Amino acid sequence: MSIEQQVGTFFEQQFGSQPQGVFYSPGRVNLIGDHTDYNDGFVLPAAINFGTYIAASARTDRQIQVAALDYDGELKIFDLDSIAFDSQCMWVNYIAGSMQALMGEHTFNGANLVIAGNVPQGAGLSSSASLEMAVLNTMAQLYNLDLVGVRAAQLGQLAENNFVGCNCGIMDQLISAMGKVDHAMLLDCRALTFEDAPISDNLAIVIINSNVKRGLVDSEYNTRRQQCEAVAQQLGVAALRDVTQAMLEAHSEQIAPTNYRRARHVISENKRAQAMLSALTQGDMQRIGELMLASHRSLKDDFEVTTPELDYLVELVTEQLDGQGGARMTGGGFGGCVVALVNTDLVEQVRQTVEQHYTKRFGLKADIYLCTASQGAFREK
Ligand code: GLA
Repeated sequence: MSIEQQVGTFFEQQFGSQPQGVFYSPGRVNLIGDHTDYNDGFVLPAAINFGTYIAASARTDRQIQVAALDYDGELKIFDLDSIAFDSQCMWVNYIAGSMQALMGEHTFNGANLVIAGNVPQGAGLSSSASLEMAVLNTMAQLYNLDLVGVRAAQLGQLAENNFVGCNCGIMDQLISAMGKVDHAMLLDCRALTFEDAPISDNLAIVIINSNVKRGLVDSEYNTRRQQCEAVAQQLGVAALRDVTQAMLEAHSEQIAPTNYRRARHVISENKRAQAMLSALTQGDMQRIGELMLASHRSLKDDFEVTTPELDYLVELVTEQLDGQGGARMTGGGFGGCVVALVNTDLVEQVRQTVEQHYTKRFGLKADIYLCTASQGAFREK
């Protein structure tokens, strides 16, 4: 049974009627441009064919009754007029936080919801943004709300920042809302404008999950953000987006060495994300590989968010590809996944190489997902 069917069937058992509909929003993989979004910079993600499904019906009262299939059908009930953080049950906070953000500008009543998804959790593929966007999409559809994708993304980010407690940027929510099938997207995180970047037919998106679990609410993410903001403040600009390498050099003596390296990553990563648009458009495999490797090394050495497992996988895959694509860590880091853009002829070879070497080296099994770039929940076809 597909997940879509599973949530529908469970809904009938739980609530005794068919849902009004099943709504969806995808997870994402970031091809390049990490830790740049909260610096007002550039990112280049794609929505993927893994996501969150919600079977739903409107209620006439103010209650939200929500069951999570991924947590043994656990049922949570809360009232829209007394939303509070639940320290015992993390998953419900993404739903409550999204509802609260949406209530700031729309009027609606309660809902019965059954939720399930197939975005691996804690892997850096944005299962949480996918859930937030699925919740907002669901409420927008049930109540016919006038909600556009970019605004939905901002509300999802608000839910994370103000309710869940993660100081994330806008990337994950925006690509989940606005991704385009068969395309990645160069997103300007200051202007909130984007350009679609075609993924050519001979390029496969391969995601390799190192299965080192990561926790984004962890202090490390917020610390990186503070370090970046400290440099911007020292240089008297709104965000690192406004800093060039020459400006950074000119002030290097005033900046703490660690913060200097954090800023150097952001400045160089912004350039790589922009350069990737033309590399993808031209299908220039060699250039794609160079940009991805440089990005990974910068995240490793300057931003210090990789792990030995991620470093190993990237070097292993890059060597295999020999100019026919590239690999890098993706997302927040500290574990999670490597993304590889691979000439389709080489996918099997990459898979075998990872299977042969990774477990031997680290005693962990890597999961490999062959993904396609998919449509965002709010993007018109
Ligand atoms: C997480 C955050 C994003 C972004 C990435 C790193 O996925 O949610 O906003 O900062 O990390 O690029």
